[in-house]
Amino acid sequence: MEPFVMYNPVKLHFGRGVADKLGKSVSKYGKRVLLVYGGGSIKRNGVYDQVMAQLKEAGAEVFEYSGIKPNPVIEDVDAAAALGREKKADVILAVGGGSVIDSAKIISITIPVGHSGWEFMKNRQKPKSAVPLIAVLTLAATGTEMNRFAVVQNNATKEKLGYGDPLTYPKESFLDPAYTISVPKDYTAYGITDLIAHCLEAYFGEGEATLSDRFVYAIIKEAMEHGPALMNDPENYALREKIMYAATNALNNLTSYGRKSGEWGVHSVGHVLSVLYDVPHGASLSIVYPAWLKLHTPKIPRRIETLGLNLFGVSAAGQAIHALESFFTSIGSPVRLADTGIDTAKHGEEIFATLVSNKAGGNYHKLNEADYRGLIRLMG
Ligand code: NZQ
Ligand code: ZN
Repeated sequence: MEPFVMYNPVKLHFGRGVADKLGKSVSKYGKRVLLVYGGGSIKRNGVYDQVMAQLKEAGAEVFEYSGIKPNPVIEDVDAAAALGREKKADVILAVGGGSVIDSAKIISITIPVGHSGWEFMKNRQKPKSAVPLIAVLTLAATGTEMNRFAVVQNNATKEKLGYGDPLTYPKESFLDPAYTISVPKDYTAYGITDLIAHCLEAYFGEGEATLSDRFVYAIIKEAMEHGPALMNDPENYALREKIMYAATNALNNLTSYGRKSGEWGVHSVGHVLSVLYDVPHGASLSIVYPAWLKLHTPKIPRRIETLGLNLFGVSAAGQAIHALESFFTSIGSPVRLADTGIDTAKHGEEIFATLVSNKAGGNYHKLNEADYRGLIRLMG
């Protein structure tokens, strides 16, 4: 194993009714609250009313920024940061899925400065301070509630970048599985895909860490057992609970300790599909992962075989890839670009050029131009 530091400062509240303590937590940081949310799902499912009741009880003054998009854009981050700066927000409350919480992380470090949040992301600039962030998660998928990462896109430069700093961890996160019951079927499936992909990105990273591998198998098995049941019974609280807890653990470092790095090549290619065609994040991963595994079978056959043996009881790499692909298909997550209406005959060159300009590839298994061509063919 590699030496590592175990550090995660997020205070995570999990379970039914946890948001009843939200007002108290927010008021620890002040009364002036910048409330950030998305396109309105929280108004339709009652979460907004519950959050506002908590803020009212805490005597907060609330300034709202809504309209954060799935595959969030830097323009919204900068506009929300300008509002937070103007109103002298003491604390940010992000209520939504990964797009909202990720945006809020960059907003939190952009409020104290005079420039665009993109400068942090593009130039890997370190922030000096951050407005405290509290998150209420409404969609199980990204793990953003318990990590420091934020992913935001810039449509002008056709880039979707990840960023993280010790200052971008939420102070506290509230996870009530009941809040995820209204997530539509497609995003429920993409969340299951995303959490599995996070485990795989850790597993295919560099370095040997057997206990971390076993956490990977356990989390994926949890998702593969309860995910399909949830797809058939989306209002089942107990199943929402299992998937939400699995998603948090898939990307809160648990699966990474002892490794030199994670892989993240599949995410890097998936981000190109999202920035070009607005493919939902999880859907991009179920398209890229099987192709990436097929491309890498000659290079890392043992690693893929070991995964197959532990997850599906199969011995050949091809069988493991087939089983993973069948799982994605069974829950309704696409496995080919054609499934999302993207024709590689028409868009292949654009995808290739953007993979090149974004230097898409992993930390461990780098991708070259021939690999990009191979992936596009396999994803078609
Ligand atoms: O905008 P609203 O109206 O809230 O609707 C959202 C959105 O349309 C809806 N939704 C969320 N909670 C709901 C709900 N609808 C009904 N009921 C609820 N309870 O779902 C749609 C998708 O929301 P979004 O936040 O985009 O989904 P997700 O949580 O999957 O986040 C995806 C983003 O996170 C990034 C992705 O790249 C993508 O931009 N990621 C962040 C990571 C991180 N910070 O660690 C890691 C991931 O790998 C990922 O890259
Ligand atoms: Zn992801």
